[in-house]
Amino acid sequence: MRLFVALDLPDAIREGIGAWGTGVPADPALRVVPVENLHITLAFLGSRPERDAERVAKVIEQSAAPAPLVELLDPLPRPPRGRARLFALPARSPGVEQLQARLSELLISERLYEPEKRPFWPHVTVARVRAEGRGSRRPTRVSRPPGALPRALSRPFRSVRLALYRSELQPSGARYVPLAQVKLPAAGGSEVI
Ligand code: 2AM
Repeated sequence: MRLFVALDLPDAIREGIGAWGTGVPADPALRVVPVENLHITLAFLGSRPERDAERVAKVIEQSAAPAPLVELLDPLPRPPRGRARLFALPARSPGVEQLQARLSELLISERLYEPEKRPFWPHVTVARVRAEGRGSRRPTRVSRPPGALPRALSRPFRSVRLALYRSELQPSGARYVPLAQVKLPAAGGSEVI
C-alpha cells in the first residue's frame, strides 16, 4: 500500500480552490487536482505492508495538536526552474511545521518513515502537468500557468484533520482513500480567523 499522512483542509477552502480552478482559462497541459484530492502532505511513507496502517493510525493520534492556522500563498511551479511538473499553493504556517516535525519524529522512531532529504515544504498541489506524449515523462510546456489566488483564499484558516491515506494510482489519476482520521481540536483563546 502506498501510504501518506496529510492535513485536511476545511471543505469551504477546498471548494473555494475548486471554484477558482487555476484562475485562468483552462490550459490543456494542466490536470487540475480534483477537490477531494486537495490536502497538505505531511509525510509520504511510500510502499508499506498492510499491517503498518494501524501503527501509523496510532501515531497520528499521538501527534494530534490544536488545529494549526494556515495561510495559502499564490501558486508556484515545481521545480522552480525548467519545465514545471506541478503547481502548488505554498502554505505559510509555523503550526503545520511543528506538527509535521512531531509526526515525523514519531514515525521515524517507530521505523515507519524515512524522511526526505529535502526540507519539508508545506503546500497544496492544485495542478499537475501532463506528459508531452505517450511514453514520455517530459512535462508539456505550460502556456497559461495558474494565476493569483482570490482574496477569500488568502485569508488564514484552521486545518481540520490529520488523515492517513492510501494512494491508488489509476490511469485517470490518483485516488486517495482515507484509512484513519483524527480531528484536530480548535485552539483555545479568542483569535479571529
Ligand atoms: P505532491 O502533491 O507535492 O506531488 C500523494 O501522492 C501525496 O503525497 C501527494 O500530495 C504528493 O505530493 C505526496 N508525495 C510526497 N512525496 C511523494 C513521492 N515521492 N511520490 C508520490 N507522492 C509524494
